[in-house]
Amino acid sequence: MTVSWSGSRDHSVAEKLHEKMAEPRFSGRSRLAAFIAVFVALFTSGRATSQVPLLFWSSDGLPPLASTTAGHITTNDQLSAYFTSAFGSASHTVLLFLQDKLSKDDFTVFGGVFGNKQESAFKNLEAALHSSSSSLAVPAMEWTDSSVILTLLQEKLGVSPLLVDADTLSQLSINTSVSNLLLINLPYCTGLHKSCKEVLQNNDEIMGKVLNIMKAKDVPYTAIYTGLQPSRVISETSVPNQSVGRSLLQAPTPTPAPVTPPIIYNQSGPCIMLWAKNLNVSLPGNSSWIDLAADRPSLAGSMCNETDSLLVLTYTSGLVLRFAMSNRRYPVSARHWFTLDTVELQVDGRTASFSGTRGIYSPAEYSFHCQSVSSFQDALLVPGSGQNVSQWRLNFVDFQIQGFGLTNGTNFSYASDCAGFFTAGIWMGLLTSLLMLLIFVYGLHMIMQLNTMDRFDDPKGPSISVPQSE
Ligand SMILES: *[C@@H]1O[C@H](CO)[C@@H](O)[C@H](O)[C@H]1NC(C)=O
Ligand SMILES: *[C@@H]1O[C@H](CO)[C@@H](O)[C@H](O)[C@H]1NC(C)=O
Ligand SMILES: *[C@@H]1O[C@H](CO)[C@@H](O)[C@H](O)[C@H]1NC(C)=O
Ligand SMILES: *[C@@H]1O[C@H](CO)[C@@H](O)[C@H](O)[C@H]1NC(C)=O
Ligand SMILES: *[C@@H]1O[C@H](CO)[C@@H](O)[C@H](O)[C@H]1NC(C)=O
Repeated sequence: MTVSWSGSRDHSVAEKLHEKMAEPRFSGRSRLAAFIAVFVALFTSGRATSQVPLLFWSSDGLPPLASTTAGHITTNDQLSAYFTSAFGSASHTVLLFLQDKLSKDDFTVFGGVFGNKQESAFKNLEAALHSSSSSLAVPAMEWTDSSVILTLLQEKLGVSPLLVDADTLSQLSINTSVSNLLLINLPYCTGLHKSCKEVLQNNDEIMGKVLNIMKAKDVPYTAIYTGLQPSRVISETSVPNQSVGRSLLQAPTPTPAPVTPPIIYNQSGPCIMLWAKNLNVSLPGNSSWIDLAADRPSLAGSMCNETDSLLVLTYTSGLVLRFAMSNRRYPVSARHWFTLDTVELQVDGRTASFSGTRGIYSPAEYSFHCQSVSSFQDALLVPGSGQNVSQWRLNFVDFQIQGFGLTNGTNFSYASDCAGFFTAGIWMGLLTSLLMLLIFVYGLHMIMQLNTMDRFDDPKGPSISVPQSE
């Protein structure tokens, strides 16, 4: 069976793989073709974690390795078992070509695989594989750390490695009655001075030289070519270890400032609650804002009963804020509503009164919440009747109040918010859709009104004649 180099691409990968598995010892050419095929198969299968390939050839016979199927990753244990069977008895001289980095892709890229044999960077390696009596290719050997292969061989052979290069090897006398482990370090391209191909070609020449010396010395040997670590990792492991999926790109929200507790008025149990982020007021003749929420007021003068509540906040600066609320049953909606009737601001005997009944109300069991309660823009607080309060301004931010039904103890009840559910946008969308629906229904109705004719003109019968004499 001969599979030529250039013809190798006519065979399917699976076929070649099958040949390889069925016949562990066949001619060098087809072996290498199968080897390359396995590499290509692995390359195309796209599955790659950290692996290095391993080439193993010998001038004397090797036991076959349990079949390697495409995509199979040979574990260290399997390799160890194989070495045990290969180096089990007698003494061996092992040449370990250890390249700094190696991946199967290096064979695909620089091996001149696709019939382009002259370009191959592995000429001597190929020749050695062809001429050796047996060889073995492990396309994917599990790689955990760089010392595995060396320690494994050291352990199996029972000798420590001897670092040599081509020159020292020629002068070295090898005692074949004991095991020898000769280590030849090979560089890998760092991208600084030479191209990868040149480096690999150089390595290939060194290998050729070493093997020639061994041949000249007439020492039987076993050679291994592998990498200290993978040169490429195209794998799942190369995916950056970050959360996959959508994430907000905005900066994380800063930790909120400690929330001030709400103001609670007790009268045989909690009765009125008020909380606001800012209670900003601006007084006549002074345009600056005073934030009353920063102060703790006294609640003297407050009162509450079933129908009326009054919260009086007296601040140390002399300002007094009054919130008067009432709880009434409205027959139309058949339920109780509470309203914030008036908000009074008093300073130095002058009083400004605002009415909130227009917008500040909620079912009596609920609290009322509004992001902004102000007296000047989108005003929920309107000046009370007969008042000229244009100089006074109130602006409460994130304001929540509850004057009745504090059954939740010191927690606000469910908040009825001033922002209505039906915004202008929703109304516009809704009305437009309804209009379209109406037109559609009208059109459908019209189409259903169409009737097919119950009588047709008979082409074979006599045509209609209209007498014209009359
Ligand atoms: C080779 O090694 C063996 C065992 O250590 C020793 O007995 C023998 O003398 C050595 N031969 C040479 C040529 O050094
Ligand atoms: C009202 O009572 C609650 C506990 O029921 C307490 O935490 C709060 O400080 C009291 N407030 C006043 C003003 O006494
Ligand atoms: C309210 O007053 C505080 C403190 O003076 C200020 O930081 C905040 O911007 C004011 N808010 C408004 C809406 O005026
Ligand atoms: C609640 O207080 C208001 C104001 O003081 C008073 O007019 C009203 O009669 C009181 N209602 C009840 C039920 O006590
Ligand atoms: C009030 O709210 C706090 C925090 O949400 C919760 O732990 C507590 O149980 C609530 N109290 C009542 C009486 O619901």
